[in-house]
Amino acid sequence: MLWHKESALSERAAGDALARTAIEEIRPGMFVGFGTGRTSSRVIQALGLKVRQEDFPVRVVAASEATEALCREVGLTVEDFATVEQLDLLIDGADEITRDMKMLKGGRGAVTRERMLAWASGRRIYMVVEEKVSPYLGTNSSLSIAVMPFGLASTRASIRRLGLNGVLRRGLAGELYVTDNANLILDVSLAESMDLDEISVELHRIPGVVEHGLFLDEADVILVDHGDDEIERISREQDHSA
Ligand code: 5RP
Repeated sequence: MLWHKESALSERAAGDALARTAIEEIRPGMFVGFGTGRTSSRVIQALGLKVRQEDFPVRVVAASEATEALCREVGLTVEDFATVEQLDLLIDGADEITRDMKMLKGGRGAVTRERMLAWASGRRIYMVVEEKVSPYLGTNSSLSIAVMPFGLASTRASIRRLGLNGVLRRGLAGELYVTDNANLILDVSLAESMDLDEISVELHRIPGVVEHGLFLDEADVILVDHGDDEIERISREQDHSA
């Protein structure tokens, strides 16, 4: 990395209150999973800086090829998730959250691997900027559904029977968006009246659906960045300090 680029990134990472708060949760020797997107990248930059400045052993796995490349670039030790049974901690972003800790994920197309890392992690921390806190899921984001190209029309018909109409995600040039696992993404609008627990279960029953972005009980902690170094912590964990 060029010196001036490295120094600008390091300065930004050092001053990033959200990233600092997230990495306070990482203990030496931990195995940490990282999700994909700008927010996860902020933490990866800050952790890279810490690892380069201190003797701080940590191993990571990443939910996408882009995240894995970033982890290596900042000097983190990346393991192949095919060889890892259990993670200590997951740090990830989200597209939208509600105050009862339900989340929409998948805006960056990594929903399948992100669910797998969440499942394998002893503890899960998600982070959002305050604009992503909504009264109900679907206010500002859509539900991402990863589907296999094989049988696409049939899978879409099954999804439609649940009352969900999806559009295939495309890139800027109009090309179909293809995930790291060679799946396609359907983006679906949600309404406040929908029963999200039921939709989650029903989507998982459709064979051509690989994964979806309703993360209704994964989060142990959600950090909300209100700007000006104000980080709010929404937690499912019991406070034992009293
Ligand atoms: C990727 C995700 C991301 O966590 C989500 O899209 C948020 O991304 P960003 O931090 O870039 O806003 O679910 O599949």
